[in-house]
Amino acid sequence: DWTPAAFVHETIEKIKAQVGDKRVVMALSGGVDSTVAAELIHKAIGKNLFCIFVDNGLLRKNEYETVLESYKHMGLNVKGVNAKDMFYGQLDGVTDPEKKRKIIGRLFIEVFQHESAQLTDISFLGQGTIYPDVIESVSVNGPSVTIKSHHNVGGLPEKMNMQLVEPLRFLFKDEVRRVGREIGISEVFLGRHPFPGPGLAIRILGAISPDKVAMLQEADAIYVEGLREAGLYDKVWQAGAILLPVQSVGVMGDERTYEFTVALRAVTSTDGMTADWAHLPYEFLAKMSNDIINRVKGINRVVYDISSKPPATIEWE
Ligand code: XMP
Repeated sequence: DWTPAAFVHETIEKIKAQVGDKRVVMALSGGVDSTVAAELIHKAIGKNLFCIFVDNGLLRKNEYETVLESYKHMGLNVKGVNAKDMFYGQLDGVTDPEKKRKIIGRLFIEVFQHESAQLTDISFLGQGTIYPDVIESVSVNGPSVTIKSHHNVGGLPEKMNMQLVEPLRFLFKDEVRRVGREIGISEVFLGRHPFPGPGLAIRILGAISPDKVAMLQEADAIYVEGLREAGLYDKVWQAGAILLPVQSVGVMGDERTYEFTVALRAVTSTDGMTADWAHLPYEFLAKMSNDIINRVKGINRVVYDISSKPPATIEWE
């Protein structure tokens, strides 16, 4: 029978045997998988694990600072890299979703390689790959059709010529959470919704700009905080706000406004492959709409996405 305790014990022994006294470098994303994988490797080899956490300027509000602090608190040897301007610069004027993904994926690899090259004697690359990533990267990116190029798997190893350490490769998400709990990772990390690698870039339809990122971060933070306060966060698989490239007329006091629209998305799902829109209470949606319109400058309209997957996808790009 599979138990988290036995898995942790065996995995730490395996990592020790594989890595010995060599060094491992690993990118952290703030998500459950990379965090649990890093902590397992850390338990096996301690300070010989070197972690890199990149701020691509596309994370949620305050996410970079908060998550970096938590990593340090966990005792991980982590370097935060602020690469925002590079990402904003290269994404300037880019509207095609797949182009955005490719640019973000490529820049991420560049930044990671550059940072790894500053470290000496690195022999291994740690990754938080889980079993569905292995499957999905095969089925989604078939030879003739790419629905969406998920960039969080692959890419790194071939170019970096390093052996992989992937402690979660045969686990499903719920098993990863149980392992995380077993090794004392906080519930805040373990209960987090999935968040796409390209981040808010694919939740701002069309061209992105630092101003639009800031606007969306505010709206998204109000929404996510609202879900937590209402006890709804753990009831949905994933939720977030999307900034539409649509301006519409509104009225504020005696003034006519002409501002942007935010769409709120929340879905229930078990694996992200299919999903239903979450039937959030009207009162909650009403509060979110008021709070966002009153507090976020530049937004005068909020809509709720009532599309399920398929035929819609969870993300809008
Ligand atoms: P879709 O929009 O395809 O999303 O229904 C399914 C799940 O995948 C996430 N997603 C991504 N994750 N890179 C990622 O790392 C991506 O390019 C990407 N696109 C979608 C999405 O957030 C959802 O959890």
